[in-house]
Amino acid sequence: MITPTYRRVTQRLDLVRLTNSLGHVENVHFVLVEDSHQITPRIQQLLDASPVLHWSHLHFSTTGQYHVKGAEQRNTGLDHIRGMISSEIDADLRRAYEAGVVYFADESNAYDLKLFAEIRKVKRIGVWPVGAVSGLPFQHCVVSPNTGKIKGYVAESLNPFPMDTAGFGIHVKSILTHSRDEPRWNKHAEADMAITDFLQQFGLPLEELEPLGSNCTEVHRVDELLQILVHCAGARMEGAY
Ligand SMILES: *[C@@H]1O[C@H](CO)[C@@H](O)[C@H](O)[C@H]1NC(C)=O
Repeated sequence: MITPTYRRVTQRLDLVRLTNSLGHVENVHFVLVEDSHQITPRIQQLLDASPVLHWSHLHFSTTGQYHVKGAEQRNTGLDHIRGMISSEIDADLRRAYEAGVVYFADESNAYDLKLFAEIRKVKRIGVWPVGAVSGLPFQHCVVSPNTGKIKGYVAESLNPFPMDTAGFGIHVKSILTHSRDEPRWNKHAEADMAITDFLQQFGLPLEELEPLGSNCTEVHRVDELLQILVHCAGARMEGAY
């Protein structure tokens, strides 16, 4: 799981919540990438004290103008995973890494532990619904009952891959079949094209992605904003789940 992070008032709160959730998940390697010139001792202490057993703490300082937040930190995380695998001398451990699935999880959201069971089902690229994205109560793929394949998306975006960053996972093998430093996130992509730009590098059409979360009907990640909305609106929006 690759998570970019940057310094702000709620950083500690978000990371404590995230690592407390992750501590309940077995066989997960947490790759936290700070947007900073060096790793922050305070964050290192937080990771040391957290219930997460396997983690890497990295940094990459973003410079200049860019559209896509976290792009370079996600690339740093991907490079790290490639390096972990190529430098692993224990064959069993290496095979275990190669059998993994990469998930990009932003730090400010809440993740239902059931999500991780879905992530483990991914064979190439899997997708699942995500709550409260771009003004929709939830964003999800639509599966054809005849073919069992994805035939479209309920999402605000009209891009070829309209899902949210938290709405897909990629098998490590799909990442390793590319050249050494691809696929990469492009920080210069238009913000709403970032995911499409990234996923197009795998050469799979939308209908070849694997619909998870009971054929894209179950939501396991809830945006911070949704929690606030649900709180304000009473139980009104809960019916959507
Ligand atoms: C998903 O839909 C397909 C096609 O309708 C069906 O065969 C399959 O059992 C469904 N899977 C789940 C987990 O609901």
